[in-house]
Amino acid sequence: MLRRLYHDQPANFAFTPENREWAEAQITKYPAGRQASAIIPLLWRAQEQEGWLSRPAIEHVADMLGLAYMRALEVATFYFMFQLQPVGSVANIQVCGTTSCMICGAEDLMAVCKDKIAKRPHEVSADGKFSWEEVECLGACANAPMAQIGKDYYEDLTAERLGEIIDELAAGKVPTPGPQNGRYASEPMSGLTSLMEYDSGHTKHNASVQIATDLGDTVKRIDGTEVPLRTPWNPETDVNVDVRSTPKSPRPAKGVPIDETGIDEREAPAKGTGHPPATEPGEAAERPQKKPQSLSGPRGGGADDLKKIKGVGPKLEQLLQSLGFYHFDQIAGWTEEEVAWVDENLEGFRGRVTRDDWQAQAKVLASGGETDFSKRAKY
Ligand code: FES
Repeated sequence: MLRRLYHDQPANFAFTPENREWAEAQITKYPAGRQASAIIPLLWRAQEQEGWLSRPAIEHVADMLGLAYMRALEVATFYFMFQLQPVGSVANIQVCGTTSCMICGAEDLMAVCKDKIAKRPHEVSADGKFSWEEVECLGACANAPMAQIGKDYYEDLTAERLGEIIDELAAGKVPTPGPQNGRYASEPMSGLTSLMEYDSGHTKHNASVQIATDLGDTVKRIDGTEVPLRTPWNPETDVNVDVRSTPKSPRPAKGVPIDETGIDEREAPAKGTGHPPATEPGEAAERPQKKPQSLSGPRGGGADDLKKIKGVGPKLEQLLQSLGFYHFDQIAGWTEEEVAWVDENLEGFRGRVTRDDWQAQAKVLASGGETDFSKRAKY
């Protein structure tokens, strides 16, 4: 398929202030001289904001990364995930047309799109609300036929149900994504035959559908105000820090890994394991650390269920207990220096306290309250 820029281009492009801040923070992930590596996330965010990639948007991203326009154009025109023409203002419906979906009725789904949206893919409907296209396998073959709308998968579709979903979206309603035939995920229709023990830990919907329904909007364009800006690879940079005005780039100091996975071990070897990384004079400073007071065992009433904290699974709970932390109030009471110590000493999970804001969650749980996560999840 020939992928060319659209004939009718807008005069300019700008990120929303929040998206710009997000984009600039993304750039700090990469070592000096490698900022071009941020091209895909930045182009993607531009598309999430506008629905498609215009020439000014591609050039704007190239300017941010100090790239020749041609380099950015090469990326944008190569990957099919980038839309090079306007899409429907409500949604672009991506119908999977690969083997499983084709066998199970993808052609019927595309017939609905032709009937309700436009005769040809990549054309916007007369009311401007929808467009559609056929895409290659989206990896949900066990729930064929399916379509991606916005960020969500609508699976086990029928032509009739897809028609209803389009009508619901047109009317401003929020359909529930995921399997449309009553399945929870991709288990057999007749019920589980294996891994039965996992049947008890469900939220109402499967994980991705639950997130979509919690957000309450499956097709909203991303303007950057949806979630707080987080740059977990650089705990010093928070939502309130304007990275544009930070005189020194907040990228990691030379020889310091971004997190326990490391950006590139050749570039940033960690010194030892499970210990604070070394810094060089003039580079990013270590966070001062202090070991929090620990317990030799849980108090009388038994240990709290630390898995109620989002980001803490059974393994991490075990690790915390081995360090002497059994209760929400212990976590809630950590000082900044103590958080830094724990962040550094969670072998294999470094930085998680800060990344998932355990303390805010632990404060709520310690006072007997529930967080959105603890309400939703069963353990
Ligand atoms: S064939 Fe449609 S998701 Fe794989």
